[in-house]
Amino acid sequence: MRVLGIESSCDETAAAIVESDKRILSNIVSSQINAHARYGGVVPEIAARAHMTQIEFIVQKSLDDANMTLADIDGIAATCGPGLVGGVIVGMMAGKTIASMTGKPFIGVNHLEGHILSPRLTNDVEFPYLVLLVSGAHTQILIAHDLGDYELLGTTLDDAVGECFDKVGRMLGLPFPGGKYVAELASRCTDRKVAAKKYQLPRPLKGREGCDFSFSGLKTAVLKHVTDSLAESDKIMLAAAMEDAVADVMADRITNAIKIFKARYNDFGDRIPHIVSGGGVAANITIKERLIGLTEIHDMIFTAPPSHLCTDNGAMIAWAGVERLNRGWIDGMNVKARPRWPLTELKRDIKI
Ligand code: KG4
Ligand code: ZN
Repeated sequence: MRVLGIESSCDETAAAIVESDKRILSNIVSSQINAHARYGGVVPEIAARAHMTQIEFIVQKSLDDANMTLADIDGIAATCGPGLVGGVIVGMMAGKTIASMTGKPFIGVNHLEGHILSPRLTNDVEFPYLVLLVSGAHTQILIAHDLGDYELLGTTLDDAVGECFDKVGRMLGLPFPGGKYVAELASRCTDRKVAAKKYQLPRPLKGREGCDFSFSGLKTAVLKHVTDSLAESDKIMLAAAMEDAVADVMADRITNAIKIFKARYNDFGDRIPHIVSGGGVAANITIKERLIGLTEIHDMIFTAPPSHLCTDNGAMIAWAGVERLNRGWIDGMNVKARPRWPLTELKRDIKI
């Protein structure tokens, strides 16, 4: 079975074709970064218009790259939220149009579920598993009990972690979105202990009960160190200190989540349970390495998709479509675009 997946919830217009045996037959991502860069953030109106201009071409290219026509596709999945609603509508309507034109099933996908399920596309990850969802808009820890059955253990009380990276990037004069550039800068730090001593940054909520996050204090603390005369070597150390503070907080919150997860599920048979991470920040190597170390201590396996499947893409939406179609969970044309759509609202009771 083959599904065409369409993604347009933020600033990437993307389409992909994924086979139920996990082969990615095509994966086309068109980024609008250049259109938004001078505003230092994604401008919803510009995003929606750019999706309109790109969508047909990107969908056609995903078919061409896979050497296929719509006749070869078994279902059409499109992101229906959460995200910038103007963009979501463009991708969703493209998906619905193709579905009604061809008579193939339509699957309305929650963008966050796309991130959560993508490790199942790239690796053999079985339910239940623990999820760290870290993107420009979300910072959540969840238990994925089953398809569509997600329990929220913790979320951010203020900024999302990607947002924190992006704001620090802006303070350091880096291009938008800054996460990748902050990480690149930090990777040039030769002594992280010296960096941590020079730039002593807070670890919000570390040591506290629960799995929630808070990043606004960290962002403000970084800002206090930023001056016009900051040398390149100082920027490198500040970026490394910030990244380490984030990784410390992640490790602390995940440790609490592991305890909750293991209290819920105490028998995995001969299987070692997974912690997976998804969303753009999951591409961060320092955070990834910290989580790998942590999972080894707790007898779990850490899995994250390769970076190009961590950031927004159509393959994750197509894969969520495959998983849903496999269960017969298809949607009608009355599905709406939703700017907000909590993962806890995905439990499915209608089986077709
Ligand atoms: O999932 P995503 O592509 O879009 C959203 O749904 O938000 O995530 C984008 C976020 C941005 O904040 C970006 O700066 C961040 O992911 N990001 C990173 C890295 N690569 C992307 N943050 C830290 N380290 C990275 N290597
Ligand atoms: Zn995303």
